[in-house]
Amino acid sequence: MIENQKHLFDIPEDITYLNIAAQSPSFKSVYEAGLEGLKQKSQPYKITGVDYFEPVKELKQLFAQIIDADDYNRIATIPSVSYGMATVANNITLNPGDEIVIVDEQFPSNFYAWKKLADKHNAIIKTISQLKDDVNSVESWNKGILNSINDKTAFVAMGNIHWSNGCLFDLKAIREKTKAHNALLIIDGSQTIGAFPFSVKDIQPDALICAGYKWLFGPYGCAYAYYGNYFDNGNPIEENWSNRLNSENFAGLTNYEPQYKPLANRYNVGESGNFIYVKMQIAALKQVIEWTPEAIQEYCKAISKDAVSELKLIGCKIENDNNRSHHLFGIELPVDIDLHALKKDLFNRNIFVSFRGNYIRVSCHLFNTSGDFKPLIQCLSEYLV
Ligand SMILES: Cc1ncc(COP(=O)(O)O)c(C=O)c1O
Repeated sequence: MIENQKHLFDIPEDITYLNIAAQSPSFKSVYEAGLEGLKQKSQPYKITGVDYFEPVKELKQLFAQIIDADDYNRIATIPSVSYGMATVANNITLNPGDEIVIVDEQFPSNFYAWKKLADKHNAIIKTISQLKDDVNSVESWNKGILNSINDKTAFVAMGNIHWSNGCLFDLKAIREKTKAHNALLIIDGSQTIGAFPFSVKDIQPDALICAGYKWLFGPYGCAYAYYGNYFDNGNPIEENWSNRLNSENFAGLTNYEPQYKPLANRYNVGESGNFIYVKMQIAALKQVIEWTPEAIQEYCKAISKDAVSELKLIGCKIENDNNRSHHLFGIELPVDIDLHALKKDLFNRNIFVSFRGNYIRVSCHLFNTSGDFKPLIQCLSEYLV
């Protein structure tokens, strides 16, 4: 099994960081790559034409490798998930009464675009909730999603896990059902890609949009999109010069070019060549590929196993192992707990986790050890006995 990688990070010994689902820490190679970019900015005469294009191509190839896509031209580099979802919304026309299927309490960047689209076309958003009192709640949640897909479904937009508790969705079955009803499948992979195996060949989504600053270790303000063939001839939300054919020929830029570069290249954000970010992103993705999402998931499972048992013993509810991810999971707290005091206490003890209602969201990675869960368990046990 892969070993702990804390030496590659810069996290002080007295910090318990179990919150990568909010923000990942840089590892040293990402930091160094950022410095290289800053140096280049001080010497702009060293920036040449290829610097605008070749590193972005490399970055797309790396991301394509992570999601098992054959053609890097299906990848667009974008600044945020909301940007990638705006592109999707910009290319979907609905009829009145059409249905959009989403999951309850989805991240807002995977909701507002659909709300606006539904309002514009008098379409209906169907939100599928988890049945909390059901012991098989994840299975029945998946069934609920599958049962909601019918001939009126225009598309399903969801994550492959729930972003606040790690519940796993059955994307393969959902894909089959959407195909049978001619509906699109749009996935937000922000909380999985990089730390959880995913293959576009396997799932065949129409779009996969993914934040880059969490499990892919890029800077805040970078994200990725994969667009399938539904989007091949679509409309981008902006018209950047570098997304047109022959834009490498700087002398000819005002020979305005009617054609876009192939496939998803039209959807890149303007100034996608961002010399600082792209260097950091390349360093980050190379490292993720070296570790592999499979090994990261296995490591997280191994270091959290005992903690999950102990947390259950002191009265916390955690989803069954097979129904959730191991790099991110939710701890449901008893309703009568003093959340305000608990939050303050965790903060004072330098323990960093996220709160989502009555849940604590814990997320771990290769810089954590099983020992990192101990201060959290200790603190929680003081509130639960
Ligand atoms: C599931 C999910 N999607 C998307 C995002 C980020 O969205 P955006 O890049 O639009 O800010 C987050 C951030 O926490 C998230 O958890």
